[in-house]
Amino acid sequence: MIRVCTVLDLPPGEAVRVVAHVPIAVFNADGELYAVDDTCTHQDASLADGWLEGCWVECPLHASSFDLRTGLPNGLPAKRPVRTYPVVVRDDVVYVDTAVQDVA
Ligand code: FES
Repeated sequence: MIRVCTVLDLPPGEAVRVVAHVPIAVFNADGELYAVDDTCTHQDASLADGWLEGCWVECPLHASSFDLRTGLPNGLPAKRPVRTYPVVVRDDVVYVDTAVQDVA
């Protein structure tokens, strides 16, 4: 498990990037926490720098959006999903479980 930040440091609408085996972006989407690979599957862009809307994040470079629940892109230019990770909150601290990786 990777420690991300406290719950207070990740308010709704915000994202945090942490470095594990790969960079991981953790989002607070209207109170629900999600973690996905930070690097877009199209080119080298940070999804933590993208725009969050509901459960979707839009890549800041070419505007493919990824569903934070599944990692699936909504359309071109990204074709492949990003990996998703379970998020755990313990004692007001946010963790990402990098032992479990899902690819939709
Ligand atoms: S780098 Fe993300 S859509 Fe191109």
